[in-house]
Amino acid sequence: MRSTATAKVTLDPTRRGEEISRFEENLHRKIVGQPAAVEAIVELYQTFLAGLHPPGRPIANLLFLGPTGSGKTRVVEAMAESLFGDIRALIKIDCGEFQHSHEIAKLIGSPPGYLGHRETHPVLTQEALNQWHTDRLHLSLLLFDEIEKASDALWQLLLGILDKATLTLGDNRRVDFSQTIIFMTSNLGSAEMNGLMQGGIGFSSATPALGVLLDAKLDRVAVESARRKFSPEFMNRIDRSVVFRSLRPGDLESILDIELNQVQQRILAAAGASPFLFSCSPGARSRVLEEGYDPKYGARHLKRAIERNIVLPLAKLMATGQVRLGDLVRIDADPDTGQMSFIREAEGLLIPMSHEPSPEMLPPHPNRAQRAPGRRLEFPFAIESK
Ligand SMILES: Nc1ncnc2c1ncn2[C@@H]1O[C@H](COP(=O)(O)OP(=O)(O)OP(=O)(O)O)[C@@H](O)[C@H]1O
Ligand SMILES: [Mg+2]
Repeated sequence: MRSTATAKVTLDPTRRGEEISRFEENLHRKIVGQPAAVEAIVELYQTFLAGLHPPGRPIANLLFLGPTGSGKTRVVEAMAESLFGDIRALIKIDCGEFQHSHEIAKLIGSPPGYLGHRETHPVLTQEALNQWHTDRLHLSLLLFDEIEKASDALWQLLLGILDKATLTLGDNRRVDFSQTIIFMTSNLGSAEMNGLMQGGIGFSSATPALGVLLDAKLDRVAVESARRKFSPEFMNRIDRSVVFRSLRPGDLESILDIELNQVQQRILAAAGASPFLFSCSPGARSRVLEEGYDPKYGARHLKRAIERNIVLPLAKLMATGQVRLGDLVRIDADPDTGQMSFIREAEGLLIPMSHEPSPEMLPPHPNRAQRAPGRRLEFPFAIESK
């Protein structure tokens, strides 16, 4: 072969294409304080788009470790939302629910002739796996949550999928997982991690260097616990382990913004309701954070605190006609009693009637409800908090 002389050019593998950059931005908007997890997913998706994932195996087998309420499940949901426009565009298996052999039949169906063969519709069929595929994106997301709770039977099934990317159903049909990313989450080591974190959130926020040390230690504890609990044949099938870090109070503030923004989008999208805007004073935010955050449970209870202190009262105000189209409701909290108050601060605001819930990236999907395009409002709004 004749070589053509050409000027040498240094290529830059760190450069991101436009689609990948948009995907990354999207994830960063949804996921707070877990840069390692976002980076792992972005790199993986990039490899997949380039078609360079290994053949005859799942696209990747990822193990997510780390404290409860730190975003392990949320990251997978955020990926589904970003790529397919729907948080449900994944198959989630709670391993704790499949402890006995008859429960495994819910996943793979029972053989012909067995009781209930016709009635069971297995969870892990090819159709279920492919249901969110689009013309240009043949990618499935499969999440095994809390794998440390998996029974031996489920474990065997999982090992087969991780290694060969195939599964044989009860009726002998084969399911192919070679277009699937397998995510597995575990809280292993969380008791030890909690021990390390006792009071740790406070001091780690006071000195970032100590926070980094704490995270490195948490990493070691998590991975060592996984190695102790899981067999080498399982650990060898994992392409990448990501340890989620403990969330800092500042992270919780950002998660609160994301969640409040979602509440606002829900209000704007609520059918038959009169859209209005709300804003939270710093006092109201502190009140919700106080109630919704516990170092032990991360952001797990934040949603509940928002529902209780904000969504439920707003729903009551809506139901009784006390808020109307175009109102601006300011939510405050009494510094002594913590009692929330709701004040109409303005009325007659021009509010967009429809909004686009998620990604800008993809063509319409048949499984996704179609909505009129509109403007998204980002929280906090341009309205000043006093
Ligand atoms: N890093 C984060 N970024 C954004 N939201 C988060 C983050 N961590 C937690 N949340 C919020 O808290 C909720 C619970 O988090 P998630 O279910 O992802 O926790 P988890 O790490 O999977 O916990 P567990 O180990 O108990 O299953 C999420 O739905 C989300 O609202
Ligand atoms: Mg989870």
